Amino acid sequence: MENKQNPTVLILGSSGTIGSQLVKDLEDKPVNVRITSRKRNKVEQMVAEGKDCKFLDLDDPKTFAFALAGVDRVFLLTGYTVGMLTQSKTLVDAAKKAGVSHIVHVGVFAEWDTTDAHFAWHQMIEKYIEASGIAWTHLHPNMFMEALTSAYLPKNLTYTTYWEDRRVGYIASSDIAAVASKVLVDGPGRHAGKDYWLSVESYNGKEIARLMSEVTGLEIRCEEKGLEEFTELIEAWIANGADNWYASANIEFVRQMLDGRMSYMSMVQNDIPYILGRPAKRVREYLAENKEVLVASANQKQ
Ligand SMILES: NC(=O)c1ccc[n+]([C@@H]2O[C@H](COP(=O)([O-])OP(=O)(O)OC[C@H]3O[C@@H](n4cnc5c(N)ncnc54)[C@H](OP(=O)(O)O)[C@@H]3O)[C@@H](O)[C@H]2O)c1
Repeated sequence: MENKQNPTVLILGSSGTIGSQLVKDLEDKPVNVRITSRKRNKVEQMVAEGKDCKFLDLDDPKTFAFALAGVDRVFLLTGYTVGMLTQSKTLVDAAKKAGVSHIVHVGVFAEWDTTDAHFAWHQMIEKYIEASGIAWTHLHPNMFMEALTSAYLPKNLTYTTYWEDRRVGYIASSDIAAVASKVLVDGPGRHAGKDYWLSVESYNGKEIARLMSEVTGLEIRCEEKGLEEFTELIEAWIANGADNWYASANIEFVRQMLDGRMSYMSMVQNDIPYILGRPAKRVREYLAENKEVLVASANQKQ
């Protein structure tokens, strides 16, 4: 039975892109926020600061019970790894034992019959959550706008795309966090059994380069590279420690973008106004907020 007055929400991934913004968003809301970390010293530091923080390592289910005891609602976020399958399965089982009544999961923006591995993993996790009997809400974000200011920053006045003229839909991670916050605060009474689709605007590489040019005042051109160059990029990621399975799924993503099987990535489906009662952040707005980063990077030779 939920504590209806002040439910306890457990936030996974609170040091990450979405999670850190979600925790800030929840600061003034009528819920008890519990965060977790897989770093013992961080847990000690947070507890010393008066925060409700528990040690939890998604790769070690022995750590789940103490973190889940007394929790009403869980924000389930996993990182960029195939480990998400076992992590989520074991976490959902533990949530069931602990009497959790609502799971809000961050998945992907996909058609039901997707054949991209990373997307398929998220769908299997969603089905597992549904089968658990715990009330669920699935968030389906398309590509984070943050990709434009990290992996795909322009260099040497050039924005590089690997999927030719295909379009992709974008969403600001701050909006994903805002939706998660609203759903966790309102709870299952309002949001159980709902899929929320988060794809605000759709652009191809040339259009992104044009937007970047307008926002920065620089002339940023678009360079189209292909699957071979993308594979080289991914091999470098793997050499730098990225999860091999996840990285390989990215190659499949580009292959399927090019052959059309992932054409649904270009769809705009924006549930934000329905959930938050305000417009979602636009790509131009996001780029303008990050103008200095874009200019500095675009002016670098390599
Ligand atoms: N990027 C996109 O365009 C995109 C689009 C759609 C969906 N997604 C989905 O978004 C999710 C990632 O979100 P994000 O970018 O916010 O993640 P992120 O910034 O990479 O952060 C991952 C978080 O998970 C924590 N974590 C990782 N492994 C853990 C473990 N073994 N035990 C406990 N905590 C662990 C990290 O904690 P530490 O500080 O300890 O590392 C960190 O707080 C993925 O599931 C991805 O599929 C991404």
